[in-house]
Amino acid sequence: MTEFSLKSINRPGDPENLSDLEKKHLPVLYAPEVVKANEAFSVTVKVGELLKHPNEYGHFIQWIELYAGEAFIGRADLSPVKSEPEVTFKVSLDGSTTLRAIESCNLHGMWENTSEIRVE
Ligand SMILES: [Fe+2]
Repeated sequence: MTEFSLKSINRPGDPENLSDLEKKHLPVLYAPEVVKANEAFSVTVKVGELLKHPNEYGHFIQWIELYAGEAFIGRADLSPVKSEPEVTFKVSLDGSTTLRAIESCNLHGMWENTSEIRVE
């Protein structure tokens, strides 16, 4: 789990009017809106979906983490060129929460996006 202060994480200013920098860095979550309690499902996180982010040795996505609220779920460390910034986590929840994906670009820092999920 990464040590960070909330201030150092970038979040979208106006979600309806994203800048190019935001489009390149905001992780996009693909998760069901509703799931059954304690039943595994997949959450895929992609970076560069809205606008392609560079994937070269000098500029790349270093890692992607997923949280349920404040609870750490998992992390994938990535390498430039050889891996794409896309990760699928297998997740099981016991209550409704906010899924939070955080990614780190080696030049532009950490970026967060969220998705609400209802557990029935
Ligand atoms: Fe970047």
